[in-house]
This record gives sequence, C-alpha cells and structure tokens, in this order.
Amino acid sequence: MTPQQIELVKATVPVLRENGVALTGYFYNRMLGNNPDLKETFNMGHQRSGAQAQALAGAVLAYAENIEDPSVLLPVVELIAHKHVSLNIQAPDYSIVGENLLHSISEVLSISMDDPLIDAWAAAYGQLADLFISTEKAIYDQHQQTKGSWLGWRNFKIAKKVIESDEITSFYLAPVDGGDLPKYEAGQYISVRVFVPELGLRQPRQYTLSTSPQADYLRISVKREDEKENLAAGWVSNTLHSLAEGSQIEVSAPTGNFYLIDHTKRNVFISGGVGLTPMIAMLNQLVTLDMPQPVSFIHACRSSQVHAMKKHIHDLKDKYPRLSTFTAYEFPHDGDVLGIDYDIAGRLDLSNVDVALLPINADYYLCGPMPFMAEQHKALIARGVPAQNIHSEAFGTGGVKLS
Ligand SMILES: Cc1cc2nc3c(=O)[nH]c(=O)nc-3n(C[C@H](O)[C@H](O)[C@H](O)COP(=O)(O)OP(=O)(O)OC[C@H]3O[C@@H](n4cnc5c(N)ncnc54)[C@H](O)[C@@H]3O)c2cc1C
Ligand code: HEM
Repeated sequence: MTPQQIELVKATVPVLRENGVALTGYFYNRMLGNNPDLKETFNMGHQRSGAQAQALAGAVLAYAENIEDPSVLLPVVELIAHKHVSLNIQAPDYSIVGENLLHSISEVLSISMDDPLIDAWAAAYGQLADLFISTEKAIYDQHQQTKGSWLGWRNFKIAKKVIESDEITSFYLAPVDGGDLPKYEAGQYISVRVFVPELGLRQPRQYTLSTSPQADYLRISVKREDEKENLAAGWVSNTLHSLAEGSQIEVSAPTGNFYLIDHTKRNVFISGGVGLTPMIAMLNQLVTLDMPQPVSFIHACRSSQVHAMKKHIHDLKDKYPRLSTFTAYEFPHDGDVLGIDYDIAGRLDLSNVDVALLPINADYYLCGPMPFMAEQHKALIARGVPAQNIHSEAFGTGGVKLS
C-alpha cells in the first residue's frame, strides 16, 4: 500500500465505525442477496442475533484501523483461519467478500467506485485476504497430508446416540465411505452441516470432538438449545437431536488450535456446562497416554440433571488416583448429595478450590460461557498463573478480541 492509501484508509475508519451496524448489516444483506448459496456457509443464527455482522466486517475495520501495526488481528489469524477451513472457505470466496465490502463502503458513504478511497480500501482488504488465504492453504495442505483426513464435506452416518444429560446427547459418527479417520488433536472440532427444515437451508455449526481419536468413529456431544425467554430454539442443535440413528450428516475434517499441548505437564481443565466437551477429549487422551502427571478436572453446571458424563468422570477417578475433581452446582436438586455429586453449591469460585488442584506452573484450559471464562481467567491471573499458560475456547462467534 502507498503512504497515501494508508492515510485514506485510516481517515475513513472512524466514519465507517460510526456507521458500523449500518455498514456491516448492509454488507451482509448485499452479499447474501447476491450470493444466496453463501447462506449455507454462514451461520444464520448469528445473522439473526447480529453477532456475525460484527465479526467479519468488524475484523476488517479493526485491521484497517491498525494498518500500520496490524498486531490486533495477527494473533487471532490462526483461530479464524481454522474456522474458515472447517467451513471449507476457499480463495475465490475472498473476492466475493472483497467486492461486496467495497461496494458497501461506496454505497453507504455515497462515494464513487472510481474514488481513490475505494482503491485504498481494496489494497487494505487484499493484504488481509492474502494473509488468510496463505494461512488457510497451509492448514488445507496439512489435512491433505494427514492419513484419514479429508478436504471439504464428507458424509457421515449417526451410528449411535447416547443421552448424556437432560440437555446433552452424544453422537457417534461413522464415515459412510467406510474409510479411515484421522488422528486429530484432543480439543479440536469439526463442522457439521444439516438441513434445517424451518429455514429450508443447510446450516453448518462447529462441535468439539468429545473424546480422543478413535479408529471407527468421531464423537460430538451437543447441547439442545431450547427456546428460552423470548428467544427461539437453536436450529442445528434441535435438528441434530431430532435425527434418528442411521441418519446422514455432512462433516468437515477435525481442525482448530485449542488442544492439549503437553501431556507431560500438569494440566488443569476448567469448564462450564457443555464447555466440558474438549476437556473430556483431553482427559481421555491423557488416560490413553497413561497420565504421567496429576490432572485437575473442575466443572460447573446447574445441577445433576444437566451434568453430562458424570459417571465417566467418577469411573476414571476410581481408576486413576492422579485425577482430582471439583464440581460446582449452581442450583443443586433435592437428591444431589454434597461431597458425592458436587463439592459446592453456587457458581464456581476458584478461591473455594483446594490449592493443590491449581498449581501455578500448570497448563490451564478453559471452556464455557464467555462471562464464565472471563471470570476464571481473571481469577487465575490473580493467583499468579502466567497468561500464556491459560488457553481458552469460545463456543460461538465473538471469541476474537479486536481493538
Ligand atoms: C469451536 C466451537 C466448538 C463448539 N463445540 C460445541 C460442543 O461441543 N457442543 C455444543 O453443544 N456446542 C458447541 N458449539 C456451539 C455450536 O456450534 C452451536 O453454536 C450451538 O449448538 C447452537 O447452535 P444452534 O443452531 O442450535 O443455535 P442457533 O440457531 O445458532 O442459535 C444460537 C442461540 O441463539 C438463540 N437465539 C434465537 N433467536 C435469537 C435472536 N433473535 N437473537 C439472539 N439469540 C437468538 C438460540 O436460542 C440459541 O441459544 C461450539 C462452537 C464453536 C465455535
Ligand atoms: C479478510 C477477510 C475476512 C476476515 C477478516 C474474516 C474474519 C472473520 C472473523 C473475525 C470471524 C469470527 C471468528 C470467531 O469469532 O470465531 C469469521 C468467521 C467466519 N467467516 Fe470470515 N473473514 C474473512 C473472510 C471470509 C470469507 C471470504 C468468508 C466466506 C465467504 C468468510 C466466512 C466466514 C464464516 C462462515 C464464519 C463463521 C460464521 C459464524 O460462525 O457465524 N469469511 N471471519
């Protein structure tokens, strides 16, 4: 980019930010209107809540705002690139996004497409798009070279459904082609794509693989997002729960940069609700590797009724004395026994957890609702845990912190 172009981009960012919702909303409507096929790539649930409109175009604005020092976005490029790969986004898709973004800027700011400002924005976007395309190519190449892995969507059959709690059901997914499966990293996720009758469209969603790599199936554990207050029920989770064993769904290859880094270290898993899925995968992986170090499994949920995989953890604890657990039930039920089913009533507060379960030099893994993760992260930092040893995964858009 020329110095003039950098100045032009920087000068218009505040104007675009001021019209942020108008611009991002305009951009999505324009792009999805011109390219209706993309409705089967984007999460229409985020479209209805507005979350996605802030994510993609917001990221471009944040990048442009910091064009001289784009470090705001660089640390999250890998995270976004894995998500793009799991949705099978390809280089030509960047041209569609770029073209619609530039036309949206021109139309929202009422400036001609020939204006030097549009050229400047095209250069800024192109620079960022190139960075994503090359990062994603490296991930696609890796998938291509991994035995049992694949590119794009592959058909899987729901071989078995197991009810884990009132809300969470596990799906055992077997490839319809009967081929091999890859040895993924425990903690990674797949995207699944199902036809949502209410929308008349296929919709993708990400689900963490909830156990360590197996020879003949991938397992996901899905929370049914029921209708609540005045919010409609979740589309994909309800569709999945309604599918019978034997049904087919589309699945993309395991990916993601949240996974068990070092099995030889002390590891502490802290989860809230369905955020336990990557923790179970990592724990099962440690069991497979015969757990060289003590492990802490700290979990918070509302009560035993929604406490998934409780028996699995109890059984592991009997077998592996190096596994320590701590469970918080926000609203214990009458039959829930303190000291057996759970360790504390109320929300998880790490100051109530035995310090032996929270060593300063451990690797920490967090997953759960955003406010839950923010609170645990703050508590760990206050205890002296180095920020670089705390790893977290957000189950939705918005995990990416920008500007
Ligand atoms: C990396 C990653 C891993 C994940 N792993 C798991 C996992 O292991 N298990 C799991 O269960 N989930 C997981 N998720 C979440 C999952 O991808 C879906 O987001 C989740 O299942 C909800 O999808 P849905 O289609 O059912 O809901 P959507 O239709 O997408 O709706 C999402 C939520 O918005 C609410 N809503 C409805 N209408 C509105 C409105 N107008 N405004 C605002 N909100 C509204 C719905 O009630 C619902 O709770 C993961 C997500 C990511 C990104
Ligand atoms: C330089 C260009 C792009 C930037 C900066 C960008 C940025 C982002 C960001 C920040 C997220 C949210 C990640 C998260 O919260 O986990 C995201 C998700 C996503 N992006 Fe991109 N993106 C770009 C290009 C594209 C392209 C070309 C496509 C496809 C046409 C695309 C499709 C998606 C989809 C489908 C999601 C997930 C949507 C969701 O779950 O709601 N993006 N992108």
